[in-house]
Amino acid sequence: MSNDTGVAIGVDIGGTGIKGATVDVGTGELTSDRIKIATPEGARPDDVIAAVAELVRKLPNAGDEHTPIGVAFPAVVKHGVTMTAANVSDDWIGLEAEKLFEKALGRDISFLNDADAAGLAEYMYGAAKDVAGVTLVTTLGTGIGTAIICDGVLVPNVELGHLEIDGHDAETRASNAAREREDLSWKKWAKRLQKYYRACEKYLSPDLIVVGGGVSKHYEEFLPLLDLDARIVPAKLRNNAGILGAACRAAGLHGTAGERVG
Ligand code: BGC
Repeated sequence: MSNDTGVAIGVDIGGTGIKGATVDVGTGELTSDRIKIATPEGARPDDVIAAVAELVRKLPNAGDEHTPIGVAFPAVVKHGVTMTAANVSDDWIGLEAEKLFEKALGRDISFLNDADAAGLAEYMYGAAKDVAGVTLVTTLGTGIGTAIICDGVLVPNVELGHLEIDGHDAETRASNAAREREDLSWKKWAKRLQKYYRACEKYLSPDLIVVGGGVSKHYEEFLPLLDLDARIVPAKLRNNAGILGAACRAAGLHGTAGERVG
């Protein structure tokens, strides 16, 4: 789907907040204010879908049916169905979520995993722009999201945030939410990140690791403490990556594995 204005709407649903904006997909710039609302308590489907519809209505271009809409969601998404639910209600598991969003928004949408959206955006406009080889984009937020992009092709739904490390689901120890919950110093958190990224390297041998999520604005506090084989850099798009990637996918600018674009 595409439109003449090069503008698309991106919505990024997270365990804690839902963000949306109108985006110039040519430049990767937001063309509206970013609207952020809290994820409804319990993150149940009906509540989240209603909240997204309300948010989208407030954005410029929302009334124009030719403006593509992309929605990024924190779960494995296969053929429009949400397959997992790590930081949202279990009611999402097996739900035809894309169809439900389309019904509420009154038009077709593009629907994808939130970390995949962030990965696409970092590849199109950010810290992984045009990088060759294997890039691992991670988002450190409520959970840990991961995306793998190999020579510009996204491999969707890679869930390395759930690697088992020392008997724990990695994101429960190394996400930014874990840092906040346990009031960890940067040094203590970096130790956990070191273990986490080492495990990722063991299985994937990436050429570049991009560290995203809102906390990446504090990268100077923890990235220098990490010792890895791959180059590791902060994300450029931080909290906007999910919005930008969702908009970009909606505008048809970037595919997934098998559809090499960009
Ligand atoms: C989910 C992923 C998601 C990540 C970041 C994880 O708990 O399993 O699908 O990308 O959180 O939101």
